[in-house]
Amino acid sequence: MPNHDVIISDAEEKDFPEIQRIYAPYVMNATVSLEETPPSIEEIKARWRQSLDKKLPYLVAKIDGKVVGYAYAFLYRARTGYRFTVEESVYVADGFKGAGIGHKLLSALITLCREQGYKQMIAVIAGTDNVASIKFHESLGFTHAGTLKNVGFKFGKWVNTVLMQKEL
Ligand SMILES: CC(C)(COP(=O)(O)OP(=O)(O)OC[C@H]1O[C@@H](n2cnc3c(N)ncnc32)[C@H](O)[C@@H]1OP(=O)(O)O)[C@@H](O)C(=O)NCCC(=O)NCCS
Repeated sequence: MPNHDVIISDAEEKDFPEIQRIYAPYVMNATVSLEETPPSIEEIKARWRQSLDKKLPYLVAKIDGKVVGYAYAFLYRARTGYRFTVEESVYVADGFKGAGIGHKLLSALITLCREQGYKQMIAVIAGTDNVASIKFHESLGFTHAGTLKNVGFKFGKWVNTVLMQKEL
């Protein structure tokens, strides 16, 4: 899968069903997301709208017009003193991982957030065992900011979160 086949662009409303199809299996079968019920398309739209309202990017990666991954930034916290800090979320479709798509998505997201004047980006990674995500964020210059123990609970187990941070 050559890299030049992957096109990164702003998400559009027509992409939401594919975004939902990518995300839902991670919600239903894994602890990389601590949601327990896959969000509806309406909920995905509401999250997209929230990001856009803050001039924050919501991107998709496409191959031959098909969505194979997405990434978006949202305010880390609503209280106004946190207004220069964002959190991010990135998901690549099963079957397309490890091919540089996540890197392309998150690199573009970082650039766009920086251009909008945001100063810090936070990754909240569910599961100290999510080595792929931890290594992935390290590869993009995120550093470890700590571990929160047993803050999540899913599939009958407590889940730690790993906090990582990048200055924009
Ligand atoms: C984490 C995720 C977004 C990474 O995207 P990806 O397209 O698979 O990753 P890339 O191919 O762009 O990899 C970029 C770098 O990340 C690291 N990396 C990615 N997957 C890795 C893995 N399984 N193990 C170790 N390092 C890995 C490597 O350093 C890699 O660089 P390299 O290929 O030169 O070695 C993707 O695997 C995914 O969607 N995982 C499930 C959902 C998830 O955990 N999302 C993050 C929530 S915080």
